[in-house]
Formats: sequence, C-alpha cells, structure tokens
Amino acid sequence: MEKVRVVLYGVGAVGSSIARFLLEKDGVEIVGAIDVAEDKVGRDLGEVLGVGKRLGIAVSDDPDAVFSKVKADVVVHATASFLKQVHPQIAKALEHGANLVSTCEELAYPYATEPELARKLDELAKEKGVTVLGTGINPGFLMDTLVITLTGVCQKVERIKVTRIMNAATRRVPFQKKIGAGLPINEFRNRIERKIITGHVGLEQSISMIADALGWKLDGIEVDSVEPVVAKTRVESEAIQVEPGQVAGLKQRARGVKEGKEVITLDFQAYMGAEEEYDSITIEGAPSIHMKIAPCVHGDLGTVAMIANSIPKVINAQPGLVTMKDLPIPSAVLKDMRKYIHDENVNW
Ligand SMILES: NC(=O)c1ccc[n+]([C@@H]2O[C@H](COP(=O)([O-])OP(=O)(O)OC[C@H]3O[C@@H](n4cnc5c(N)ncnc54)[C@H](OP(=O)(O)O)[C@@H]3O)[C@@H](O)[C@H]2O)c1
Repeated sequence: MEKVRVVLYGVGAVGSSIARFLLEKDGVEIVGAIDVAEDKVGRDLGEVLGVGKRLGIAVSDDPDAVFSKVKADVVVHATASFLKQVHPQIAKALEHGANLVSTCEELAYPYATEPELARKLDELAKEKGVTVLGTGINPGFLMDTLVITLTGVCQKVERIKVTRIMNAATRRVPFQKKIGAGLPINEFRNRIERKIITGHVGLEQSISMIADALGWKLDGIEVDSVEPVVAKTRVESEAIQVEPGQVAGLKQRARGVKEGKEVITLDFQAYMGAEEEYDSITIEGAPSIHMKIAPCVHGDLGTVAMIANSIPKVINAQPGLVTMKDLPIPSAVLKDMRKYIHDENVNW
C-alpha cells in the first residue's frame, strides 16, 4: 500500500515545521517542495529543514515542473495570508489534480471577503475532483471551530465572546515580526498603515464562520484598528529583544453585529512577555458556557497539528472548497495516516 504523497508549497517557518512533523509520521511521504525564497531554491529539502540528512528532493520555484514530475495526493500550502495573493498558487495545485490544505487565513472562510475567488476555487476543485481547505490554529480552530462545537450543547445562543492572549516570545520569528515586536510605536503605526506588517489576519473569517454555522444573518462585521501593546519591561526571545517603551506586540478586536446588537466579540492579543496566556470562550445562552484553556494552545504546534490532522479528512471529503465547519469534527492522526483514509478514496 503506497503512502500518502505530499508536496509542500511554501517551506518557511510553518511549512518547514509541518514537513518535519510529517517526516516522523507513518504512512505519509514528502515527494516535492516548492518555494521562491532565494536561500531555499535549488537546495535539498533535508538541508533546508535542518533534519541532518539529505532527502533527495530539491526545492523548486517552478510549481508546474514539480506537479508534472510527481503525483501528489495532497499539497500542504503555507506561503501567505491573503487569498488574492495565493489564489494562483492554489489554483495551480488543483489544476494538477491534487487536494490542498492551506494555512492561508483568508481561505479559512473566504466567503466574507473574497466570495468570487471562493466560487472560482470551488468550481475548479469540483471540476478536478479534489478538495481544498484553509485551516490552522486561528483561524481554523480556537476562535471558530471550537466555538461552533461548544454551541452544540446550547438550546439558545445570545452572545459569544472569545479571547486569545498569547506570549509571542515563545513563537516563531515571522510571527513576532508580523505583530511588530521591537518597533518604536510610530514605526509600528506607520507599518500597519502601509500594510508592511499585517497583524493577525482572520478575525472576520472566524466571525463569519460562527455566524453562518448558527444561521445568523449579521448586519456587518466591525473590525477595530490594530493597537500596539507597549513593553513595560525588557523581554528577550531567540531573535528579537524588546526594550521598555517599544512595541511588544498588538491587540485586535472584531465584532459581529446582528439587529443592532454585538453578538460575537473576538479579542486577540499577542505580545512578547504576556504573563497570563489563555484562550477563553463565553457563550451566553441556555445553558451559558464558559471555557478557559490556560496556558493558551501553542499556536505554532497547534497549526502544524491542524494541517497534518486535516489531511485524511480532506482526502475523504467530497470535492470542492470546504471549511472547518463542513468537515467531521477535528481529531488527531496518531497512527499510520492511511488508517484514517476511507477505502473509496484510495487509488493505491
Ligand atoms: N491559520 C493559521 O492558524 C496560521 C498559523 C500559522 C501561520 N499562518 C500563515 O501561514 C503563512 C506562512 O507562515 P510562515 O510563518 O511559514 O511564513 P514564512 O516563514 O514567511 O514562509 C512563507 C514561505 O513561502 C514562500 N513563498 C512566498 N510566496 C511564494 C510563492 N508565490 N511560491 C512559493 N513560495 C512562496 C516564502 O518565500 P519568501 O520568504 O521569499 O517570501 C517563504 O519561504 C503566513 O501567511 C501565516 O500568517 C496561518
């Protein structure tokens, strides 16, 4: 029985972590790798991943060449956050008949901000008989899928509040950069305004996914401006040091409004040195529910798991663009990955 064949599309911080995790798993093999970064193209994947051995796969910046050479069951895609930017990359993989799981935040629930691109991807995936999913820890799980799951025990839901507070000092460097850690306050505001740093992407997607799952028609989604959290003391991490008075990270809030009332509030805070890290969900309804995970789920480890664990579910799913609310409840792939794939989806 052949293994599940994976092509990596994006071998940056997250793509590399997923790859290292997959290399340790049974029943799955990496057969190709695509990236445009100059320091990776042409090098052996094993070297790029730092796993201490060559894997005999050269990182290529030519997706057509990779997909023509190897047949992928699934593409693990981790390049960027915005669907406009990554749509051609995803389309390329689908055209070659591969399923795809992506960390692209907007793909987690693209109907709110990119309905036309969502429609095109859905059509293409159906035409090619494959499935495409955007997921990760957030969006993808903590502020949407988990919230939706908890409402399963509610007879009535009136209001939902979700808070995620995380200490960015323990996270990957691209994330620390994305939240402006170490910048002076005016430079942080400048970069946010010019979209050089994006902050967290996904609050609108999470709100839309929750609202659609509950059948709520929202008046709209209000997204507050991204605000810096300023360091009071020195915070150190492997790559970035933050001095008092500099930006330690950021806080962002978004609200789903229905019939003039705020019914969904998402509060996201990520900064270096956050002392209390947690994920909390409060549902006001019948029954009301309060859940707190402390410390919060580690975002990088959680993302790797969400992507890897989603692979069998995506292979099993019907063709088209799917979101986490369309798939069976999330669960871990602990054994040989092939054990989780239904026979009718196997062509080995
Ligand atoms: N949903 C979630 O929960 C979740 C969690 C974690 C991460 N993410 C998202 O996942 C994405 C990847 O994160 P990361 O930390 O791994 O970022 P990263 O370290 O910057 O890695 C991205 C890699 O993709 C490459 N790339 C960019 N455009 C490409 C293209 N057109 N074709 C092939 N490769 C391309 C980049 O090369 P260059 O460096 O040369 O641009 C880089 O090597 C980010 O957008 C991040 O926000 C989502």
